[in-house]
Amino acid sequence: KNNKNIKYKCSNCGAETLKWMGRCPQCGEWNTLEEKIEVSAPKNIRISGAETISKAPVSLSKINLSNHNRIKLGLSEVDRPLGGGVVPGSVILWGGEPGIGKSTLILQICNAMAKTGNTVLYCSGEESEEQIKLRAERLNINEDACYIYSGGDLEAIINEANEIKPNMLVIDSIQTMYISDNDSPMGSPAQIRDCTAALVRFAKANNITVMIIGHVTKEGNLAGPRILEHMVDVVLYLEGDRSYQFRVLRTVKNRFGSTADSGLFVMEGKGLIGIQDPSTYLLRDRAEMVPGSIVMACMEGLRPILIEIQALTTHSVLAIPRRISSGYDYNRLVILLAVLEKRGHVMFSSDDVYLNVAGGFKVRETAADLAVALALVSMKKEKPIPSGLMALGEIGLTGEILPVSHIGIRLKEGIKMNFKQFILPSRNKNEVLSLEKSGKIGHGLDIHFVEKIT
Ligand code: TYD
Ligand code: MG
Repeated sequence: KNNKNIKYKCSNCGAETLKWMGRCPQCGEWNTLEEKIEVSAPKNIRISGAETISKAPVSLSKINLSNHNRIKLGLSEVDRPLGGGVVPGSVILWGGEPGIGKSTLILQICNAMAKTGNTVLYCSGEESEEQIKLRAERLNINEDACYIYSGGDLEAIINEANEIKPNMLVIDSIQTMYISDNDSPMGSPAQIRDCTAALVRFAKANNITVMIIGHVTKEGNLAGPRILEHMVDVVLYLEGDRSYQFRVLRTVKNRFGSTADSGLFVMEGKGLIGIQDPSTYLLRDRAEMVPGSIVMACMEGLRPILIEIQALTTHSVLAIPRRISSGYDYNRLVILLAVLEKRGHVMFSSDDVYLNVAGGFKVRETAADLAVALALVSMKKEKPIPSGLMALGEIGLTGEILPVSHIGIRLKEGIKMNFKQFILPSRNKNEVLSLEKSGKIGHGLDIHFVEKIT
C-alpha cells in the first residue's frame, strides 16, 4: 500500500494534512477534508495581466511621489476616513454587515469618481446589471464613464479591466468571486485569499485603484478570519444598526494616512447622506425629564457626538434576571451593575436591566460608564436627571471615577448643544480649570467634579 502521495485538503480553508481527520485543524470545520492525490497546491495562482512588474531597488531620495496625488471625491464623509481622498493604485477594503449599505455607498463613490473624470468598472457577483441600474436610478446616478459588469469569474473580470483600463475597479463582493483554477468553493477562505492576492497584484501592476467589498459575519470578522486585512492598503468598516438610519464609516487600517477620523451618514431614500451635525440628529427625539435617560459626549474619530443613554429596570420574575444591552458593551454593563451594588449600595440583583443607546449608535468608549451608571440609578430611583445635564467618566472596579480624554472638545460640544450642568471626573479638574482660565471653554460653567461611587 503506497499512500505517500495522498494528502487531505480542507475544502473550506485549503489547509492540508497527511491524515484524514473529521475536523479541519486549521479552520475547525467538520467533514471538509477531502482526499487529494496531487500534492502541489497552487499557492500563488497567477492570472495573466495581474502580475507585478519586477523592479530594482531605488534610493529613498529618488522615489517619486507623483502617483500619490489623491483623488478627492467631494464626499467629505468618505474623503475624511480615507485621509483626504483615494490614492490611485491603492487597494481599499470596505467591510460591513449584509444590508448595511456598502453597495449603495460604493455606487455613490463610483459616481463621484466618474464626475472627476475617471473611468470606473463596477463588477458585481451579487446583482444583475438591471438590479444595479435600479439602484443607480434611485440614487440618481447615470454616468457614461461608469461600466457595470455582472459576474464572479475573476479571470474574466481582470481581462475586462485590461480592455477598459478603468481608473478604478470595484469588486462587490469578494465572497462572490472565484478563480476557476482554484478548487475551493466560492466564498471559502482559500478563494477569498487568492482572489484578493490577484486583485492586489493587478492594482499595483497597473496603478488602478481597486475597491473590494467584503461582508462581515455577526461576530464582526470579515468572513475568512480577517485574512484580507493585511493584504490591502486601507480597511474601512461601515457600521450601524439596520433598524436605524445612522451609519459610521470607520478606518481600521490606512497605509496612506491616519485611522483617527471617521465618516458619519444617514441612510435615506437617496442613499447615504453625510451629516455634519450628528449631535442634533441623535438627540432629536429625546424626551424631556424621563427617569433613566442621560446624555454624554462620545468621541467618534476626531469629532464629539452627544448621545443619549437610556436605561430601564423592572422587577424580574426570572431566577437569573435578564441583562440586555444594545449599543454598549454587555460585559461592561454587568461590571457596572456589580460596582453599583457593591460600592454604591443600589441593588439590581432582582431586576431585569435593559440598556440602550438612542439612534443605533454604538459606544466603544469607557468614558460612557458614568452616564450609564447614572441612567441606571435614575431609573431605579425613578428620579429623572435634568435634561440639560451631561456626565463623563470611566468607572473602575473600586468605584473610582477615572479621567476621560479630549475633555475640552467634549465640553464644547455640550455647551454648543445647550447643556448647562456637567458631572466630570475629579481627575480632569485641573485640565478643565486651565481650559476655563485660558478662555477655551466658557466661564462659570456649572460643573460638579466627582471622585468615586459611594
Ligand atoms: P445595500 O447597499 O444593498 O447594502 P449592502 O451592499 O451592504 O448589503 O443597501 C441595503 C439597504 O439599504 C436596503 O435594504 C435598502 C436600503 N437603501 C436605502 O435606504 N436607500 C437607498 O437609497 C438605497 C439604494 C438602499
Ligand atoms: Mg451589496
